[in-house]
Amino acid sequence: MPKTSERTQKFGESVIRGMTRLANECGAINLSQGFPDFHPPDVVLKAAEKAAREGPHQYAVTWGAPNFRSALARKQSRFMQLPLDPDENIVITCGSTEAMMVAMMTSCNPGDRVIVFSPFYENYAADAILCGAKPIHVSLHPPKFRFDPDELRRAFQQRPKALVLCNPSNPSGKVFTRNELHVIAELADEFDVFVLTDEVYEHIVYAPHEHIYFASLPGMFDRTISCSSLSKTYSMTGWRLGYVIAPRTVIDEARKVHDFLTVGAPAPLQEAAVTALELPDSYYGELQRLYTHKRAIFLKYLDAAGLSYTEPDGAYYVMVDISEFGWSSDTTFCEWMAREVGVAAVPGSSFFQEPINHLIRLHFAKSPETLSAAGDLLLQLRDKAEKVPSAIRSELAKTPI
Ligand SMILES: Cc1ncc(COP(=O)(O)O)c(C=O)c1O
Repeated sequence: MPKTSERTQKFGESVIRGMTRLANECGAINLSQGFPDFHPPDVVLKAAEKAAREGPHQYAVTWGAPNFRSALARKQSRFMQLPLDPDENIVITCGSTEAMMVAMMTSCNPGDRVIVFSPFYENYAADAILCGAKPIHVSLHPPKFRFDPDELRRAFQQRPKALVLCNPSNPSGKVFTRNELHVIAELADEFDVFVLTDEVYEHIVYAPHEHIYFASLPGMFDRTISCSSLSKTYSMTGWRLGYVIAPRTVIDEARKVHDFLTVGAPAPLQEAAVTALELPDSYYGELQRLYTHKRAIFLKYLDAAGLSYTEPDGAYYVMVDISEFGWSSDTTFCEWMAREVGVAAVPGSSFFQEPINHLIRLHFAKSPETLSAAGDLLLQLRDKAEKVPSAIRSELAKTPI
């Protein structure tokens, strides 16, 4: 049998998806993979029923159905405060996942370097490998997840082609401040670097923090490839609708990459999702309130369970510090926790380039019932974790997820 490519051997299977499988296998509440257990808004479901009956059911225009692009341009122009042209500045993709791949392939040649903050969403490393780029990691130092501007400058001095900016950030929950974004913008300008943003959590930000679109900073639109999706904003991660926003010259190239990767995003779902994009601004205020409430409930449980964590400024993840339990492996801890406590988390080490293994990531994009069931189980975590004999911990460490 011929050998599969070396490229694929450079990365393992997604740890997050592995944890989801483990959660399903042992019946744990899955707070690992970040998706809601509630539906998109009702009006959008009705539009989906109509689209299912009436179509379209064949390919849409490869870079996005015109009515979907127009609705998106209107909405994003409003929020990004940029005059976006649906025919010039937008490519519709299969989620932000494809958008990021398109952005990286459009901006980088094999061998180019890409700055990626660590911890990072695990897809970025795979994206870099798939397009032959080499990541340069810059630390976001826990527990506050701030970067050191001198370290960032040293990374820019290695002449990268692009920088990946996940804002609001998964897994850390960091929302970059205007000052931090200015530091990045000045360096990007000085070293003539593309900034590839992943802004899937653009509407999930907790006051007093605010989301600032990198592309909206003075002079930055021309070097920014903004990626995002409808997945998190409208609770429709399975619809696979995302987008790239960039200047015309970049979009011309991105369209080709997207065309040859996937041809197009699902046509009937684009039709239905126009309704989502046309929701009034009050929808986004309501979404903020909903997640602010979920965060408050979840953090209350973590407090009651006596756990230390970093309060997220945005997105719907919390990094919990497990160092006090004295386990040597966060992966082993998460596996044990799924089986014995009944809650699945993601080992923090899967997000860090640095040897950090004292953090685990939990998410709270769940219904009140799920959050309270998970919260009750987490109240037992400390007691159970402290009682596990070290022989069992080392035995568990021998069998990866
Ligand atoms: C930072 C980040 N980017 C992208 C994605 C995936 O987004 P999409 O469903 O739009 O592909 C996720 C999902 O968890 C994410 O956390």
